[in-house]
Amino acid sequence: MIAHRRCGCSGVLLPEISLGLWHNFGDVDDPSEARNMIMHAFDQGITHFDLANNYGPPPGSAEKNFGTILRSDLLAHRDELFISTKAGHAMWPGPHGEWGSRKHVLASLDQSLQRLRLPYVDVFYSHRPDPHTPLEETMSALITAVQSGRALYVGLSKYPLTMLQEAVSILRASGVRPLLYQPPYSILNRWPEAEGIHAWLEQEGIGSIVFSPLAQGMLTPKYLNGIPAGSRAAREDGFLQESQVIAQQEKLRALSAVAETLGLPLHHMALRWALQQQGVTSLIVGARNVAQLDDNLAALQVPELPIEALQAIDRVAPAVRKEHAEG
Ligand SMILES: NC(=O)c1ccc[n+]([C@@H]2O[C@H](COP(=O)([O-])OP(=O)(O)OC[C@H]3O[C@@H](n4cnc5c(N)ncnc54)[C@H](OP(=O)(O)O)[C@@H]3O)[C@@H](O)[C@H]2O)c1
Repeated sequence: MIAHRRCGCSGVLLPEISLGLWHNFGDVDDPSEARNMIMHAFDQGITHFDLANNYGPPPGSAEKNFGTILRSDLLAHRDELFISTKAGHAMWPGPHGEWGSRKHVLASLDQSLQRLRLPYVDVFYSHRPDPHTPLEETMSALITAVQSGRALYVGLSKYPLTMLQEAVSILRASGVRPLLYQPPYSILNRWPEAEGIHAWLEQEGIGSIVFSPLAQGMLTPKYLNGIPAGSRAAREDGFLQESQVIAQQEKLRALSAVAETLGLPLHHMALRWALQQQGVTSLIVGARNVAQLDDNLAALQVPELPIEALQAIDRVAPAVRKEHAEG
């Protein structure tokens, strides 16, 4: 079974690898593969599934499809599962279809619960910082989510450090403790580390569940020599751009050479690296099929990377602040 780690100083334990439903679980995807992945993940000990209002495409369909699978196959296991959703990215037309207003955040949560066919989620996130809405307003919606029983815990995603600190103090003043922070984080994207976010979270007893630890697939061997058909970078509805891959290819080859010295494939080194960084509670991976999921779970058997490998990785892909990051 997969090891679980305590989430900051809370009672919640999360699996070292969690499954995200951003890609491959929408109405455009193969429903039987999606179902197989969820069932297989649960059978392997993945207890945490990460969703958001807008996952699909079309937006909302990942929640709807997950809700269907949950109802048909997993409802008896609801209390073994930790399910998250988020609000903040564009979801419906008009002035209240996105961002951080109380109106958007609470209406979106109600819609998510309907699609998921659940009375509550375990974690509800503010999906992104809103530069125009007062933080007090967005946090008031998260506080209401908990106080009304629609969410057990709250989290924040992609907030810069100063905004995160302010948000945390507003939540705490109302007696709602933030459980989790959700940043992008991988060997290729180390700004949460460079900006001291992970060190601060650890000190504050808040967990960090990092997304895209494989940099959307770039940290697998598939892009070392091109863009294979069917990959996320080749898909029209994929979020990864060919230009992003090309910009990173030289670095990917250098990282792959480091992995080779360890006798590992690039993605196993990338996942093990992320798991041994300060402040990291869980990695949210994506997968297109059961074979990829299993391949990623195999990285949990890899021993800790030695200091020489960490130093070699630092030389190829040092931690840099967000404004200096490439991808
Ligand atoms: N909070 C936020 O704003 C935010 C943003 C993004 C993501 N997230 C969360 O994080 C989750 C994971 O993000 P992600 O999908 O970008 O994570 P990722 O693990 O970095 O990338 C997953 C993709 O990499 C490829 N891949 C994975 N394992 C592979 C393997 N063993 N061999 C070859 N290719 C492999 C697959 O793409 P191919 O199609 O190329 O095979 C897969 O869909 C999302 O589902 C979501 O829950 C949150």
